[in-house]
Amino acid sequence: MIRKFFSSTAEIPDAPPVPRHIAIIMDGNGRWAKKRLMPRVAGHVQGVERVRNVIKSCADRGVEFLTLFAFSSENWRRPADEVTKLMELFVMALEREVDKLNRNGIRLRIIGDLSRFDDKLRKLIADGEAATAKHTRLTLTVAANYGGRWDIMQAVNAWRAEHPHSHAINEDALAEHLSMAYAPEPDLFIRTGGEQRISNFLLWQLAYTELYFTKTLWPDFDAATLDAAIASYQKRERRFGRTSEQLVQS
Ligand code: IPE
Ligand code: IPE
Ligand code: MG
Repeated sequence: MIRKFFSSTAEIPDAPPVPRHIAIIMDGNGRWAKKRLMPRVAGHVQGVERVRNVIKSCADRGVEFLTLFAFSSENWRRPADEVTKLMELFVMALEREVDKLNRNGIRLRIIGDLSRFDDKLRKLIADGEAATAKHTRLTLTVAANYGGRWDIMQAVNAWRAEHPHSHAINEDALAEHLSMAYAPEPDLFIRTGGEQRISNFLLWQLAYTELYFTKTLWPDFDAATLDAAIASYQKRERRFGRTSEQLVQS
């Protein structure tokens, strides 16, 4: 496969004024619910509602790729009943929303280690991806049972299976086998909920991404929060290793 996209470390990519790819850690559902004396799952329900909104806002602004962290490979450590509820919500969202994605020209992709999901969920994922595969307006990627370390390891293993006699993998070959090889690296990363960490999200792909952290809890995230993040992104000087003077010259 020939990748269409620049690697930020192998070449100097362009820095589009509207981020071409936004990746979001949707955090703070539990605290949102707690503040209202509601069970944590109520925060997750509200969080799913917000997803619909942010997809539309991104599509309206010309963002081509939106990647949402829905469930990390470490989230299995949560109480069993919360994990069960999160899986139920994921199933419900897939059952309800795929038609709408289709009507709006949105392609759905799911990344993560799907082997841990049951057959029903895996079929919904495969069907949803197939039904929306031809769309080009916006690619919505949902990271589910995803971990950045898992992604790098599975890429190395997939490459090794194809090249049993080679010794050294290079950057390009690794990137081609990552689960988001179909997308450019994120321009803008947003984490809601106030925490300033990556939590094993897209470790490889975030190498040169602009990071934006907001205290806004995910269920309160709206178009204004998105615009504040994009405005912050637009003020950044993306140097990719160069000096400021070099940027002015070019
Ligand atoms: C993010 O919200 C949703 C998932 C991790 C599934 P949290 O559930 O982590 O909310 P807080 O961080 O406890 O507030
Ligand atoms: C990160 O949120 C994962 C998702 C939003 C799906 P967490 O709330 O699980 O992250 P940590 O554990 O606080 O770092
Ligand atoms: Mg959290």
